[in-house]
Formats: sequence, structure tokens, C-alpha cells
Amino acid sequence: MLPFAPREVPVNQPLRKVVIPAAGLGTRFLPATKAVPKEMLPIVDTPTIQLIVEEALRAGAQEVVVVNGRGKGAIEDHFDRSYELETELRNKGKKDLFEQVRRISDSVRIISVRQKEPLGLGHAVLAARHAVGNEWFGVMLGDDVVDGDDPAIGQLARLCQKTGKAAVALMPVPESQVHLYGIGAGKPFEDGHILVDRIVEKPKRADAPSNLAVIGRYVLPPDIFEVLANLKPGAIGEIQLTDALAVLASQGRLLGVRFTGTRHDAGDRLGYLQANIAYALKRADLREGLLAFLREVTR
Ligand code: UTP
Repeated sequence: MLPFAPREVPVNQPLRKVVIPAAGLGTRFLPATKAVPKEMLPIVDTPTIQLIVEEALRAGAQEVVVVNGRGKGAIEDHFDRSYELETELRNKGKKDLFEQVRRISDSVRIISVRQKEPLGLGHAVLAARHAVGNEWFGVMLGDDVVDGDDPAIGQLARLCQKTGKAAVALMPVPESQVHLYGIGAGKPFEDGHILVDRIVEKPKRADAPSNLAVIGRYVLPPDIFEVLANLKPGAIGEIQLTDALAVLASQGRLLGVRFTGTRHDAGDRLGYLQANIAYALKRADLREGLLAFLREVTR
């Protein structure tokens, strides 16, 4: 464990900034992700990262720091104004599409930072250090979608504001999958949440402290950056955010939040397809046609 004296900063209310790490290689989606970042792959017609930004905005965030890697210019372009496209849509009288496109760039202040090499999630979060500064912030993984009326990142932020502790979203997974996740365990806290005292990245099934997986929503204090800056590579040779969370857990400063909402792992091919079907089924213009097709192909 690191010799680490926390410089605690009071939780700001409400959450203002979120970091979206989007600099991974997305190897599970090759060849699609050779030139297109996986965070730009659409769920029906909306890039995954836009759904995540919209969740942040619904939770009251004002600034989104996107951690980009090589070839991730498409993300910057997506949230920027597109004069040619807007002019064309307006000239052709496509008012709804024009407004949709305009809304994306008008609704949010995006700051781009670069992770020069994909050395792990912890390393990606550390790249946002100067853009975040000395305040609490959210982290939302660019390939984890949580669908629900109450934005998951907002649920975490409210608990942080109430308790002064950091928070991660936890979800039970089958034991056969614990080796794919950060896994947390601890003592019961109010409302079904837990006070995390152990958290480990990608444990073997036999070593997993529970089946509660960390999924891609976190609200963290700024002193986490100091911990990250001093971490050595952990599981799979990467700088792991989970290892920094373990330091908070050892200080009794980390809550595991049993959030409400449906999570889709859009970074995984099956999870991505499921997310597309789930979102399409919620659309009045697609639902009947899709159901008819699914009945047909599964007969
Ligand atoms: P993943 O491990 O799911 O992303 O990281 P990956 O490495 O791109 O995926 P595969 O396994 O090769 O298909 C979760 C999130 O963290 C970001 C990713 O972009 C993704 O949104 N990430 C990961 C970074 O920003 N930098 C990294 O070094 C690693």
C-alpha cells in the first residue's frame, strides 16, 4: 500500500465535472475500431459517448473532460459545430435533424485531453488531472451505458455529498465473470450500499472477495490524482484505477453504490448488440418492426 496522507477537499455540490476516458484501443471491436473510436459506435443512431454525456448533463454536470487517444478526432468533431452539415440541413428544411445536430454542440462544454499511450484506465484518469483541478469529479467509462430515469452518476454524486466519501457503482455479476472486472466487498451501509474495505482488479474466481463488480461510474476526490501518479502497473500490466480506489477503501473513504438503472457493456460485442436491441425497442418508430423481425429470425 502507498504511503499516502490524504489532503481531503470538501465535496462540491453539485457535481460539475466528469471525465470520460475514451483512449482505449477497443481491440474487441476490431476491425471497426481501426479508424473509428468504439465510443463513437452508435446505439441505434446515437454514439455511445453521446448517451454518456447526456447522462452527465442530466445529473447537472457542466463540463466534460474527454480523454482521447490516437485517432480519436471523431469524438471532438462530434461535439463541435458542423457548419456545412447544419447549413445543408437548414436549406433542405430538415428542421428536426438540424435541431438535433445543433443541440449536441450547444448543450455541453467539452475539454479534450490526450493520453499519449493506452497504459490503463488509471493512467487515462490521471491525464485529466489539470483539466479537473482541485475538486471532486465524476468518471464515466466511454463504453458503459446505464439506462434509467435517475442518472447513475447523479445517484453516486448525491451519496458523496451526503457522506463526504467517494463512490463507485457496483453490480452483481455471475461468478464466471468476476475475472473480467474490479470486484469490491465490505460492510453494509445504508440503503443496500456498502462501505468498501476490499477492492481488487480482475481477481481469479477463487480469490474474488464477492461477486460485486465495479461498473463504469465513479465520483472521486481530487487527491486520487496523487495516488494515481504514484501507482505501479497492476493487473494485465496497466495502471489500474482500482488500485487507487483500494487506497481510498483502506481509509474508509469508499462507498459501493447499488444504483438503479440497466447497465449495458457497450465495449463488448454481445453487450453492444443487446444495448442496440434494448434502445431500439423503446423507440415507437422501430419497436414493432424489430419485434416482428426478432420473432421471424428466432422461429
Ligand atoms: P476497456 O478496457 O474496456 O477499453 O476500458 P479498451 O482497452 O479500449 O478495450 P478492448 O479490451 O481493447 O476492447 C474501459 C474504458 O477506458 C478507456 C477505454 O477507452 C474505455 O472507454 N481506456 C482504457 C482509456 O481511456 N485508456 C486506457 O489506457 C484504457
